Amino acid sequence: MNQAVLILIKPDGLKKSLTGNILARLSETKLEIVAAKMVRVSKELAEEHYQHLKDKPFFGEIVKYLQGELHDRKKVMALVYWGEDAIKKCRDLAGATNPEEAESTSIRGSYGRITTGGVYENVIHVSSQESEAEREIKLWFHPDEVIVDLYLAKKVAHKEYKTYDWA
Ligand code: TYD
Repeated sequence: MNQAVLILIKPDGLKKSLTGNILARLSETKLEIVAAKMVRVSKELAEEHYQHLKDKPFFGEIVKYLQGELHDRKKVMALVYWGEDAIKKCRDLAGATNPEEAESTSIRGSYGRITTGGVYENVIHVSSQESEAEREIKLWFHPDEVIVDLYLAKKVAHKEYKTYDWA
């Protein structure tokens, strides 16, 4: 069954120049990239992304981590991969959440670490299940940024709304 999955290359992955390595590993899945962009992550976006962890003691730290405040890199690369069993394929490649427990050849096993403060810096986010993938993709992307029709969308006319165009 075809599925979509949200992948984030987190600020530590960008700071360590791992983008190419991570994309090369993900290309082993033969899945299709259907959306990709660089994002400056607001506190609101990070908090919404990790809403299921808001009661955890490390919530504040992972919000700062996703915003890039721990790495002096205020950006993440967001991608949507699409294809057969996309979530399992990408999560298997990513490895366990805790990089010390992740299989050593997985992306997190190869490149992740636990900080002295106890945060898992695991270089990549992968949606955990289909309902989460849908929630996350809708949070990170507008419908017209994804090149396949993943979810129902509606056309909206913006009267007072201004965007930038190239001068
Ligand atoms: P979670 O959504 O549980 O895992 P995953 O990213 O594998 O789906 O956790 C979100 C992030 O929070 C995780 O990537 C790293 C961080 N984290 C910690 O720093 N310490 C922890 O004990 C846990 C469970 C997560």
